[in-house]
Amino acid sequence: MNKIPECIIHPISIKLIRQGHPWITADSFSNRFPRQSEFIVAMDDRKRPMALLIHDPVHKNVKARVWTTKYPFDQEAQHFTASLQARLDLAFEKRLKEPALKERENYYLAFGEADQLPGIFIQKLGSRVLIQLYTSFWNPYKSIIQTTIQEVFPEIKDDDVWFQLRGETRELQKLPINAADPGRRDEFHLQEFGLQYLVRLGSSYDHGLYTDMSSVRHTLKKFITNDSAVLNLYCYTGAYSLWAMKLGAKQVTSVDLSPKYIEWLQQNLGLNPDLNSAQHEALTMSVDEALVKLKNDERKFDFIICDPPSSSTDGDKRTSAIKAYKDLISKMDKVLNSKGHMVIFLNTHQVNGSKFEKTIQDVLSELKLNYKLNTRLTLGQDCPTLKGFPEGSYLKGLVLEKL
Ligand SMILES: C[S@@+](CC[C@H](N)C(=O)[O-])C[C@H]1O[C@@H](n2cnc3c(N)ncnc32)[C@H](O)[C@@H]1O
Repeated sequence: MNKIPECIIHPISIKLIRQGHPWITADSFSNRFPRQSEFIVAMDDRKRPMALLIHDPVHKNVKARVWTTKYPFDQEAQHFTASLQARLDLAFEKRLKEPALKERENYYLAFGEADQLPGIFIQKLGSRVLIQLYTSFWNPYKSIIQTTIQEVFPEIKDDDVWFQLRGETRELQKLPINAADPGRRDEFHLQEFGLQYLVRLGSSYDHGLYTDMSSVRHTLKKFITNDSAVLNLYCYTGAYSLWAMKLGAKQVTSVDLSPKYIEWLQQNLGLNPDLNSAQHEALTMSVDEALVKLKNDERKFDFIICDPPSSSTDGDKRTSAIKAYKDLISKMDKVLNSKGHMVIFLNTHQVNGSKFEKTIQDVLSELKLNYKLNTRLTLGQDCPTLKGFPEGSYLKGLVLEKL
C-alpha cells in the first residue's frame, strides 16, 4: 500500500475530533486533501497524526469521516477490510441480542457513525436488507458489505440485498441501485408489533415505514387506551394510525396532504383485517386546513401525533418545523381534550433537544397554555447515538400533557 498522505486539518476539526465528532466538513484544509487518496491521516497543528480518515472528495459537505483514532494508522489501513467486517459483525451481534427487536421485522442492523461504520446504514426488512450509503467511499466495498451480511444471515438471497446511495442530491438518487431489474421483488409486506405494512423499495426515496421511529411507536403505547380518540397529523402511510387502532383507540383520524400516501395508508389498513376500518377517517388535505376544519366541526381528541417534515415550502417561502410550531400548537390545543396529550416531533439535527424544549416552553408561555412535559423521545434501541455528534441525534420528540 502506498504511503497515506498526512494532512493538517482545520483547527475547528481538530477540536471537534477530540470531542468525538467523526466528520471533516468542506473547508480550506479538507478541500486540499489529495483527491485520489482513499485514506488521509489527519494531523493536528503541531503535525501530530490524530486520526485515520476515509476520504470522499466528491461529497459536497462531508469530505472525510474518522475511521479510527488508534495508532498505528498504516496498519489500520492495511487491515481495513478485516476491520470493516469485524465492525459489521459487532453491530449485527448487538441487534441479535436485543430482545425488543424480536417484536418487529424491521430494524437497523447498523446505524452509521454510532456503530463505528461511518455513513453505512443497514435496515433489516423481513427477509431483505436495505443498505444506505451516505458516502461514495463505500462503492468499492459493496460486495464485502453484502457478503458479511449474508454470512450472518444466510437466508438473505442476493436478490434481496438493496443498495441506495443517499446524499444531498436526494432527487437524483431516488431508486435503489438494482430497482430497474425486473427480477427484483421490490414490493412486500412487513410486520411491526403484529401489524402488516406494505413496503416499496423501488418506487420512492422512503420505503413506507420509518424504521427509526419504531422504538418511539412502542414507547407511545402507554398513552393510547380504548377510550382514546387519536389524531395523526402528517400521517404518511399511517404507521402511527394503525398502531393506535391496534392498541384499541376508539377513533383515529389521519391527515396528509399527499393522496398517494393516504392511498398507501388505506392499503395498509386492508392488510390488517383485525382492525376496524370503520373507526378510521382519512383527511387528504394540509394540516392547517384539517385543524381548522376539525375545530369548526367541534371535534376533540385525546392524543395528537404531530410529525412534520423538517422544513416545508408553500411555493414562496420555506418554513422550518420549529418556527411552524407556534401556530400548530395553538391550533392543536383547540382540538385536544383536557388531560389529553400531544406528541410533537422535530426531525433535524440543526436544533438540539434542549433548544427544542426551550422553544416549545416559550411558545406555550406566549400562547398562555398550561401543559406539562410528560416524556422526552429520542432514537432508541437499534439506532444508537454518539456523544459529540449532534448530526446523528436528529430525531427528538416531546409528549406534552394538557393540564
Ligand atoms: C416525516 S413524514 C411523517 C412520517 C410519519 N409520522 C410516520 O412515522 O410514518 C411527513 C409527511 O407529511 C406530509 N406533509 C408535508 N407537508 C404537509 C402539510 N402541510 N399538511 C399535511 N401533510 C403534509 C408528507 O406528505 C409526508 O407524508
